[in-house]
Amino acid sequence: MFISWMINVGLMVSILFTVVDCTCNNLPLTNGNWWDSRVNKAITINTGTVTDGWGFSINSQQFDTFSCTISDDSRWVFRSDNTIELLFGANYYAFYCLQYTYLTDNSYMYYVQSDIEQFNGERVYLVDTSSANNNSVEAYCSPDNGRSGPDIREYHVFVKENTQNSVHQNQYFPDPLLGVFSYTVNDGSNTFCGAESVWDGCYDTSNSIDRTTVILNYTQCSTTLMGAVGGKLYNVANVTESGSTYYVILINADGVDPIFTCLAVSQSGNTRYISTNPGGCAWNQTSTSRTGNADSVLITMTAYETCLFTTTTSTTTTTTTTPAPTTTGVTLEADTKASENSDGSNTGVIVGVVLSLLLLIAIIVIAFLLYQKYFKKRKAHIQHMTLKDQGPDIKRPLPPDSDFTLSELNLKREPTMSDDLVIDSLSPRGKALPMERVLSRASAPYETQSSQRNYL
Ligand SMILES: *[C@@H]1O[C@H](CO)[C@@H](O)[C@H](O)[C@H]1NC(C)=O
Ligand SMILES: *[C@@H]1O[C@H](CO)[C@@H](O)[C@H](O)[C@H]1NC(C)=O
Ligand SMILES: *[C@@H]1O[C@H](CO)[C@@H](O)[C@H](O)[C@H]1NC(C)=O
Ligand SMILES: *[C@@H]1O[C@H](CO)[C@@H](O)[C@H](O)[C@H]1NC(C)=O
Repeated sequence: MFISWMINVGLMVSILFTVVDCTCNNLPLTNGNWWDSRVNKAITINTGTVTDGWGFSINSQQFDTFSCTISDDSRWVFRSDNTIELLFGANYYAFYCLQYTYLTDNSYMYYVQSDIEQFNGERVYLVDTSSANNNSVEAYCSPDNGRSGPDIREYHVFVKENTQNSVHQNQYFPDPLLGVFSYTVNDGSNTFCGAESVWDGCYDTSNSIDRTTVILNYTQCSTTLMGAVGGKLYNVANVTESGSTYYVILINADGVDPIFTCLAVSQSGNTRYISTNPGGCAWNQTSTSRTGNADSVLITMTAYETCLFTTTTSTTTTTTTTPAPTTTGVTLEADTKASENSDGSNTGVIVGVVLSLLLLIAIIVIAFLLYQKYFKKRKAHIQHMTLKDQGPDIKRPLPPDSDFTLSELNLKREPTMSDDLVIDSLSPRGKALPMERVLSRASAPYETQSSQRNYL
């Protein structure tokens, strides 16, 4: 009886915690350095405050640090800790509303849900001090002027510093990058590489093609691409614009400047067209022209072969549950902004519930000890009280795991394919291939290819 009374109290505390969650207490961006593709360098986070990396100035006045002030299940609102005087006598805060999606424990993707600010040409919301105390996330996440909210390609990623070797797991390349290619690189004035070069997107780990790694052969062409000093890059995230151009953010395995590079990728027959942009993608980036960034290059690739996957005859249920492209947790293929970031939406609530559960257990234990020690004599009295107050049965909160959505489970799941995949035909470059296979894959329109994928 006493315990059930304690559970009631615990539930109330738990509800309280869920409410408190909207003040950004459970920001999953843990303390330390995170690489942010928006500024394309490390930022420092300390208990919900970006203490380094986001600062910028307007009219020689500086915004330095930003604290997460309010949040909901898909958005974090960061407000500058100081104000600057933009108009005579009017002081302004800078707000960043980040609409985020969970990718892995060490990586998130996000959109800045703000208009482009005319003062600096970036997505940020400058708010007069008199309007800066609204508790509603909506008040700071509703871009409405000019070019309005971000286009689907204007996404960014956070990767916890030095975790590039783990965040690519399960973050698969879109189909046009699943192959071994020769490539040329054009930086606007010169063209590098060519016929003998090798871009290997069929990187093979322990008998399965991981679909998340590019290996460049600098013996064949020595031009360092995208900061990949060691010739290795990983997929962090990708989105699709109108079903034909893919926007992929890569991180170089060395974790050196430029840490992130966005690729806009399209395919025509056996050819891939790619433009690069350091950091996230440019708002107007297309696969066939360089962006406004001086380091943007055009890469044209010709497939030696595509990665061919096949499952063994004993295909298990684990392989069949591999998310198909259209049902992958990241629902960014949709056109509507409303559906852009539906993942990670429960993360805050889950963290709240977990914390509450821990607190509840602590309360029960302490209460039990106190009860054992001091209140034995009053047992009868307490029993009387709880009997009287006993309401309808209240269910124990579910264990935290059961609160995860299906899509999160998919995203967090360990790789399931390695044991079931064998490489059907990953022949060395130049070796004869079953041509009809390669050609049929390469020449079929992309949309119809998913039905031909052997690896699902
Ligand atoms: C807070 O913002 C919401 C959404 O924009 C708005 O409807 C509401 O009126 C604002 N409240 C105050 C007190 O300004
Ligand atoms: C790169 O190409 C050279 C020359 O063809 C070859 O010897 C080497 O094994 C290749 N390196 C990798 C990592 O594939
Ligand atoms: C990238 O696109 C492919 C193909 O649409 C999809 O299967 C994959 O899940 C996407 N990856 C990410 C990280 O969004
Ligand atoms: C894209 O916009 C930038 C400025 O944001 C401009 O410099 C560049 O020329 C534009 N590129 C295209 C292809 O329109």
